[in-house]
Amino acid sequence: MSTGAVALGAERVSREFGGVQALKDVSFAVGEAEIVGLIGPNGAGKTTVLNAITGVDTAFSGRITFRGQDVSRVPAPVRARLGMARTFQRASLFPSMSCFENVAVAALAAGLSQTEARRRAEEAVERVGAGAVAQRLAAEVPLGTQRLVEIARAIVRRPTLMVLDEPLSGLEEAEVERVCRVIQELNAAGLAFLWVEHNTRAVLAISHRVIVLDLGRKIFDGGVDQVGEAKEVLDAYLG
Ligand SMILES: Nc1ncnc2c1ncn2[C@@H]1O[C@H](COP(=O)(O)OP(=O)(O)OP(=O)(O)O)[C@@H](O)[C@H]1O
Ligand SMILES: [Mg+2]
Repeated sequence: MSTGAVALGAERVSREFGGVQALKDVSFAVGEAEIVGLIGPNGAGKTTVLNAITGVDTAFSGRITFRGQDVSRVPAPVRARLGMARTFQRASLFPSMSCFENVAVAALAAGLSQTEARRRAEEAVERVGAGAVAQRLAAEVPLGTQRLVEIARAIVRRPTLMVLDEPLSGLEEAEVERVCRVIQELNAAGLAFLWVEHNTRAVLAISHRVIVLDLGRKIFDGGVDQVGEAKEVLDAYLG
């Protein structure tokens, strides 16, 4: 649960792509150890927000703060070192490496020694409940397990904020539940989440708060129990 302190701040973030206003003055905060869902229709600007937050994109205007520091112009690898982790909308595992190797490589890339990388990778794989399939090739495990391994890769640096882009897409119901449970367990251990997800039912089930974007603008920011009442949200997205 949230402690009330702010982990991440986005202040008036705007982004234009060749005349298309993908984001317009989007501001919000994510508290320490809070789970915040970011939802909205296709093309609403969700991934664009995540790219600005994590430093994948630096051509936005506005400000991103992370744990009290202005990181707007801080490169992505440095943000990662400061404790920001991310998974991507597209599959990012090396298919011909084992699940364990995928995680270990991420730990080595983070600059850990061989011994420490191995130890952290083992710990991360266990924490997402993928220990039993650790030695299998990433390409050969079910999609839901691949998503868990992607999360394991992201936690090897022991981040304080995890940014996920559609971690449930294409998953079967049982896998959805498994990934949601892992998110909740990691959150209970103190990790904050900002996650983009089209599975609204899952988002509303495990998030503490939800932000709705539509056409690059924030149209709702509040508790999961209030989102259904917001008329604009209903019109734009929830139907
Ligand atoms: N690199 C880019 N170049 C040009 N336009 C872009 C680029 N990235 C995003 N856009 C445009 O910005 C808008 C927001 O895109 P974004 O990918 O952030 O949407 P999204 O909410 O993540 O959608 P989805 O749910 O489909 O993933 C869209 O109109 C998209 O076409
Ligand atoms: Mg997207």
